[in-house]
Amino acid sequence: MVATPAHLRRSAITLGNDEVLRIRNDFPILQQHVNGKPLIYLDSGATSQNPLSVLEAEQEFYEQRNSAVHRGAHHLAVEATEAFENARETVADFVGAEWDELIWTSNATEGLNLLTYSFLNASLPGAAPEATRFALAPGDELVVTEMEHHANLIPWQELAARTGAVVKFIPIDDAGALDLEAAAGIIGPRTRILAFTHASNVLGTINPVAALVALARSAGALVVLDACQSAPHLPLDLKALDVDFAVFSGHKMLAPTGIGALYGRSELLNAMPPFLTGGSMITTVTMERAGFLPSPQRFEAGTQRISQAVALAAAVNYLSETGMDRIHAWEAELGQRLVQGLESIPGIRVLGPAAGQERIGLAAFDVAGVHAHDVGQFLDSRGIAVRVGHHCAQPLHRRLGLTATTRASTYLYNTTDDVDAFLNAAADVRAYFQA
Ligand SMILES: Cc1ncc(COP(=O)(O)O)c(C=O)c1O
Repeated sequence: MVATPAHLRRSAITLGNDEVLRIRNDFPILQQHVNGKPLIYLDSGATSQNPLSVLEAEQEFYEQRNSAVHRGAHHLAVEATEAFENARETVADFVGAEWDELIWTSNATEGLNLLTYSFLNASLPGAAPEATRFALAPGDELVVTEMEHHANLIPWQELAARTGAVVKFIPIDDAGALDLEAAAGIIGPRTRILAFTHASNVLGTINPVAALVALARSAGALVVLDACQSAPHLPLDLKALDVDFAVFSGHKMLAPTGIGALYGRSELLNAMPPFLTGGSMITTVTMERAGFLPSPQRFEAGTQRISQAVALAAAVNYLSETGMDRIHAWEAELGQRLVQGLESIPGIRVLGPAAGQERIGLAAFDVAGVHAHDVGQFLDSRGIAVRVGHHCAQPLHRRLGLTATTRASTYLYNTTDDVDAFLNAAADVRAYFQA
């Protein structure tokens, strides 16, 4: 008998439908009906929903503590600063980082732009001596992968266009995995940065971080991890993964929009030039020049997203109390159920790893003869929310010979009944459109 791989085995560490039903009670938005049907929310890959504890944390901040941070000497200012910095410690701890290695951003996209603009500043004449290690010269290589979200592609293209560096990419194979043999040939002495997604928002593939970090290290390149689709869904220890930088978005992990984070090794952050400049990030200012604080203030110019940071800390507390290993195990089950079910429907092509192979709890698919937008509207008529389009991954869709797909993505509040209702509806799509 062939043993079930460990990551697919149902074990005591998974959640189970009964617990998920209890979890759902914490999410007011999930109680509603859409088009006369109970809402089935399968679009958490785009944005997740908020439990009451997160909504209350933000409201409590405004009712009890609202004030600017790091500025005032009054009672509220001290409380707000404490809440803001405690939130930083909580979130840093959640991803295995130190507090001064976590910089607040609006989202992952801003974190990646912060990095690329900082590297651009390091490449300009007059950059501080400690920053020149980040300077790029014509012919330097920035390596990404063919499965990147535009957020982890376009900033590198723009940086390359401004410095003369070249963007190269690691291709995927037909099963949606990175071609590591090709990667070994692409990453070489001119590679300065390797930026890749931990988990694909389209394919569901979980990339082999250790193998990629090893290739980057042997070339002396910096490693940037897009953890947008991993931080919400699996236990994440950035120190253990040994990456130099990572980004993630709060709204994909039960927090409100408007808050995300950039992680960086502190030794690197403190040598990098700031991206935005202004109040709250300086030591001394004269009419001619300014000195900059160390990380994290170095990268947090102006009034910050304080209540959102507090809410993100409440979100990671909710995730930690539920258990990231249990969430990961449950979503792996839901992901397999999605893929197995979709693969059994005639005319549906599922992207990414086949059933039985490791993936996060989402599946993007093409329905022969029916445009993804029509699929999405049909599912919506049954109360089912999914994402349609290119999912901000046009090059990946082009590689797969597609322009748009439909994506169902799960989270800790989805039951197997949600997946089955979705599969039943997906099975009716082609007949409805007479495709
Ligand atoms: C893999 C990945 N990277 C980056 C992003 C960008 O996230 P945001 O729009 O929150 O900056 C997303 C969002 O869908 C994503 O899935």
